[in-house]
Amino acid sequence: MTARSQFPTSERPPGFIYREIKRGILRSRKQLVLHCERIPLSQLAEDYGTPLYVYSASMIRERFNAFDGAFRGIPHQICYSVKANSNLGILRLLAKQGCGFDVVSGGELERVLAVDRKAARKVVFSGVGKTREELTAAVKAGIMLFNVESESELWALAECAGRARKVAPVAMRVNPDVAAETHPYISTGLHKHKFGVPIGEARALYAKASGARYLQVRGVSVHIGSQITDMTPFGEALARVADLVRTLREDGHRITYIDAGGGLGIAYDKPAEGGFSGYVTAYARSLATPLRDLDVCLLLEPGRSIIGPAGALITSVIYKKKNNGKTFVIVDAAMNDLIRPALYGAYHEIVPVVRNLESTATTADIVGPVCETGDFFARDRELRPVNEGDLLAILDAGAYGMVLASNYNSRPRAAEVLVTGKSAKVIRKREKVSDLFRAEL
Ligand code: LLP
Repeated sequence: MTARSQFPTSERPPGFIYREIKRGILRSRKQLVLHCERIPLSQLAEDYGTPLYVYSASMIRERFNAFDGAFRGIPHQICYSVKANSNLGILRLLAKQGCGFDVVSGGELERVLAVDRKAARKVVFSGVGKTREELTAAVKAGIMLFNVESESELWALAECAGRARKVAPVAMRVNPDVAAETHPYISTGLHKHKFGVPIGEARALYAKASGARYLQVRGVSVHIGSQITDMTPFGEALARVADLVRTLREDGHRITYIDAGGGLGIAYDKPAEGGFSGYVTAYARSLATPLRDLDVCLLLEPGRSIIGPAGALITSVIYKKKNNGKTFVIVDAAMNDLIRPALYGAYHEIVPVVRNLESTATTADIVGPVCETGDFFARDRELRPVNEGDLLAILDAGAYGMVLASNYNSRPRAAEVLVTGKSAKVIRKREKVSDLFRAEL
């Protein structure tokens, strides 16, 4: 790809757009600067330092509304997957939109409750290893649905619910044995994976659950993986779930929810054709078709598709160097801030904050300061020439960015800023090194 051919894809409207800024005393020098909504990212970098996570509130709202709108023809509830980005500021924004939440730990549940106690009734709880403490906390909070992933968990839940004298609403998470085209680490719907119970064994488990006094069978759940951009496997999985629901109803169970999980992918390398609403409408159609005659409430657990493109990681170039003819651009963000390239070989588009109009392209590796060869954001990437001190934006970093950040190499985690129009709010302060050893003795 030539540098010029990156132009059409290097914005993420309406959140991240290049706008012209006039500089100089006579304001005669014009520069194209990447903005988050109405604020130049260069301004945010100056005010809050780098590396810096920046999110666009309008874009999060817009994507949530597009997602919600695509399902308007059927009863549904969106339960945003907290694991994708669990910052309280983001959860609060989504809660205000009427969004529910998918949690996978007691910690995520506490975050949701800290934002809005009443949101508990829109919470689904998934995960293969829920502890008794976590189950009890969720029973007491009065969540909407437990997605149970094994028989042992079913009995643990029955015990916790009995102790609390509260009935727990239950769905079994079934493994439909459907292959989804994605990275092997984030594919979950095959027999060989640890998730859910084999769909063929579900019926017997529902029979057992319905005999338990403090369990109430309410639904069936499924999640086949993440970053899936082909709609076929979603439809196949839901068709299998729909068959199971018919059987369960014949057995006398009251099934009111089908939880279709998350997993809708985003276009890391090119914008989706027809925009997000066209794309999510196709997704909605593939899920709704197999459920046509079922009269259920569809639960959805999107994470990445809501928050991914609405966030960017801003970093500055510390040094440039050449080793045996290969150029390395060393930036102040690293694998501890955004691990996706190192962990999955994931592609993230990287663009200069101030667009440099030189037409020559250079090829470089963009790497962080951490002492691992795997600490890279891009390899052999064609870019316009960059200089030491320049700012770069790593795009589509809103999902599975900050939540996977660590303190490796004793690096304090980045700050996070949420932008609405011309206003920026810090939603997480930058860590100090002293924060890192506070709990150590
Ligand atoms: N529901 C369940 C049960 C899940 O396991 C997940 C993601 C989701 C919903 C949300 O999936 P999404 O809509 O975001 O694809 N760290 C990886 C992704 C791991 C996904 C884990 N489960 C990455 O950076 O690509």
